[in-house]
Amino acid sequence: MPTPAELTAWDRQHFWHAFTQMAEYEPMVIDRGEGCWLVDINGRRYLDGVSSLWCNLHGHGHPRIQAAIAHQLDKIAHATTLGMSNVPATELARRLAQLAPGELNHVFYSSDGACAVEAALKIAFQYWKQAKTPRPRKQKYVAFDSAYHGDTLGSTAVGGIERFHALYKPLLFDVVRLPPPDRRRGDAQVHLAALEKLLVERHEEIAALVIEPLLQGAAGMILQPPGYLRGVRELTNRYDVLLIADEIVTGFGRTGRMFACEHENVTPDLLCLGKSLTAGTLPMAATITTDEIYDAFLGDYTTGVTFHHGHTFGGNPLAAAAALASLDLLAEGRMVETTVPRLAEMLARAVAPLAEHPHVGEIRQFGAIAGVELVADRATGAAYPAKERRGYHVCKRTTAGGVWLRPLGDVIVVMPPLVASEEEVALIGNTLAEAIDYVCGAKDLASSL
Ligand SMILES: Cc1ncc(COP(=O)(O)O)c(C=O)c1O
Repeated sequence: MPTPAELTAWDRQHFWHAFTQMAEYEPMVIDRGEGCWLVDINGRRYLDGVSSLWCNLHGHGHPRIQAAIAHQLDKIAHATTLGMSNVPATELARRLAQLAPGELNHVFYSSDGACAVEAALKIAFQYWKQAKTPRPRKQKYVAFDSAYHGDTLGSTAVGGIERFHALYKPLLFDVVRLPPPDRRRGDAQVHLAALEKLLVERHEEIAALVIEPLLQGAAGMILQPPGYLRGVRELTNRYDVLLIADEIVTGFGRTGRMFACEHENVTPDLLCLGKSLTAGTLPMAATITTDEIYDAFLGDYTTGVTFHHGHTFGGNPLAAAAALASLDLLAEGRMVETTVPRLAEMLARAVAPLAEHPHVGEIRQFGAIAGVELVADRATGAAYPAKERRGYHVCKRTTAGGVWLRPLGDVIVVMPPLVASEEEVALIGNTLAEAIDYVCGAKDLASSL
């Protein structure tokens, strides 16, 4: 067994971490998880305040999920799903089709959220060529500024966060863009008018619209006005544009419904799921679609209508077993109906004292998802200069205090596992408040750190 010192050195020397500036990276090597807590190789404990990047539901090491994985491991760890199936992935496909709104009956598996979006984009594109009435001119996508759908090239193309995506523009296909449907910038009617204008002019060439329903997560938990998603569905129906709902963050209960689309009675044409599908235990994602779209891919092999797309580990049986166990836990505990609202209340209580803080501009919360926005000046809403990286420093401080948080710029995300206790959620709130005071209280950042 390597020593902590060796692991720390190897981590620094060989492990290139995602979305991490390695020049300043300070190794933190996790050894194990216990409920909502992460324990590092030096025995330090950190409350997992962001559910290991927004995906853990039942805490780490939940015995039911562990047992389901172990049971499946005794049978088979992996077999391809190209041209054949396995027991848990088949059961899960049926379960997801039952859970998903409307006639979303057909599940295409992949391993990460970005891949679920990528599959949705390609299915939409191909569908219009093969539909009963083909519309091959429909090749473009509508997407939103500030959107985030993952980091493969297709999902990057429909993303809209300058900081992440601008550099890669020469590699990306063209996307028709709309401003973010931010409720602070207008009600549903205002944003829908912009969409309708666009669709009136260009619907003949638009294959699909891609949206993070109800809130843009990585943009900083930007909330959409009520009624907007419903209106988007009506317009996309009216103008023959497919609706791709990216519920990779919002799926599986976080918002208080199993899927965010349900808040507005919307059934998309393609639903993308990931992250919490396995309760954040193993990589798995899914793209679920309707009979109508699926049927357009049926025919003689030689006609070329097959979906020529896939991933080696799509439908992995261990991940599927974990997903089934998580869905059982959600159903048995009526967690979406009871645990989520309770956590939402705890979260609201925990961050409430920050509402009047001179350096908190806004607290945005939807269900069990919260974002605390830091600002230089509360009265004017002026942002801190980006180079000061206040969000980063606040999270560094909370981590030193035993609460693991990760910011989105100057928005601090608070999103603990659904099973977090009142004490744990309060600890996040208190530690965050102290960190904000510490990092934003002083005028001169350098002297405060
Ligand atoms: C809305 C949304 N879509 C897609 C993704 C990409 O998922 P993954 O990181 O699993 O590829 C993310 C990741 O945070 C996301 O927030």
